[in-house]
Amino acid sequence: MTESQTPTPEEQPLTERGSNRSQRPTSQAFRTFIADGWGSRPDALPERSPAADHAAARRAALGRLFPGERLVVPAGQLVTRNNDNDYRFRPHSAFAHLTGLGTDQEPDAVLVLHPLGEDDGAATSAAGGASPDDTPTHEAVLYFRPRAGRDTEEFYADSRYGELWVGVRPSLEEISALTGLRAEHVDSLADALAKDVGAGQVRVRVVPQADAAVEAQVATLRAQAGLSEGAADSDAALAEALSELRLRKDTYEIGEVRAAVAATAKGFEDIVRSLPRAVDHPRGERVIEGVFGARAREEGNGLGYDTIAAAGNHANTLHWIRNDGAVRAGQLVLVDAGVEVDSLYTADVTRTIPVDGTFTEAQRRVYQAVLDAADASFARAGQPGVKFRDLHAAAMEVLAARLAEWGMLPGTAEESLDPEGQYHRRWMVHGTSHHLGLDVHDCAQARREMYLDADLEPGMIFTIEPGLYFREDDLKVPEELRGIAVRIEDDILVREDGSVENLSAALPRTPDDVEAWMARLRG
Ligand code: GLY
Ligand code: MN
Ligand code: MN
Repeated sequence: MTESQTPTPEEQPLTERGSNRSQRPTSQAFRTFIADGWGSRPDALPERSPAADHAAARRAALGRLFPGERLVVPAGQLVTRNNDNDYRFRPHSAFAHLTGLGTDQEPDAVLVLHPLGEDDGAATSAAGGASPDDTPTHEAVLYFRPRAGRDTEEFYADSRYGELWVGVRPSLEEISALTGLRAEHVDSLADALAKDVGAGQVRVRVVPQADAAVEAQVATLRAQAGLSEGAADSDAALAEALSELRLRKDTYEIGEVRAAVAATAKGFEDIVRSLPRAVDHPRGERVIEGVFGARAREEGNGLGYDTIAAAGNHANTLHWIRNDGAVRAGQLVLVDAGVEVDSLYTADVTRTIPVDGTFTEAQRRVYQAVLDAADASFARAGQPGVKFRDLHAAAMEVLAARLAEWGMLPGTAEESLDPEGQYHRRWMVHGTSHHLGLDVHDCAQARREMYLDADLEPGMIFTIEPGLYFREDDLKVPEELRGIAVRIEDDILVREDGSVENLSAALPRTPDDVEAWMARLRG
């Protein structure tokens, strides 16, 4: 090849090079042939999802906060892993919450709550006797990419959306039957978003960081209407409202978290049974991670977050997800793992267990301190008038007292608990509790007064997860405790009567119960 024959990027842009390995036939004869001879689609529409009515109530609650405004809640786009390989799709949690959809069928879908005008029934409903709270404020429409016909190129040639590549996607009628939402083709989204915006009659808010393309569309509309000022704050207020809407779970959500916790408990049993294999493997932590991951995929959508499988001193690294270490007899192994069920609700559970089934005296001492802290927090949660922040305070009172007893604090426990002290936090730098639901750290955009400073309320689900982390190079730790790390994490529900339930109580927590459980599972 002469120099002048060398292909240049101008001749074929890099973005088109992926097709250089394609040998897909392009003849008209092939196109005609592949479009023909397929069986008919099922006549029956899918049943309405058990989440549909709950999602409708959530949409109504959101709509009441933003009357007269268009609210845009994208599912998000597929994310490229490399070249033409995408990560498995998971919709934005706000989209899942407001549609009840939890599968991988919705890349590019967008839920829009269109404001109802007086002509649409917003006012007439109230006039008809409904309470103001029942007055519909919006019409929800799901803009969706339905499956293409078998006579299209998408059917056989589109590896992102095509039926022969990713399976049969629902039709508009099917997705509508499933969700109870009016469904429109995603191609009509742009016009629907723009309606009445240019003249400034309708304000649009979009969930931030869910779908860059939809955000850009909304930004353009705002710019055209001269409404760009304050847009970021306005979208942030929507994100905040969506987060706060999830602080109290409805009965459907509570059931889903229960299912996630039940599957997670099975995964922990699998881990105990796998320990002999983990000990025999040079990367025993990976054996544990893999065993739990298999259970998560068998029972649910997958993991709610990357599993932490940390043996010995690795457990002193709070987010140890590399999990490439050995697992040795005599060590503790800390496993923080949660199954995310198909509806996308997750559990978040930690157990710290002795690899050979028996705690040493030193391990038991640390374990008991953490357990006492968790129990104190749980007891506080069940008392009337408790604020979320009190859960942490209760656990810290126990840990500070125990660390003072062990001579590890520079003063008394009281001095340490003083905001100006806080010496005990050297050995537990993370928080004690967070809300749990569709996201492992759920409701993360809620205001402080709605989260940390809020009263516990029925329907809230949160973790209690104190720990003590004694690194092996920590000279302020008594020698016999160095290298030991313990966390115990449970998922807690506030019931209607204000009492609390430990949803993960099926997994043993006391040292004796842990030992008995391990002995039973290992025969
Ligand atoms: N697994 C993350 C957490 O416990 O918050
Ligand atoms: Mn947690
Ligand atoms: Mn956790």
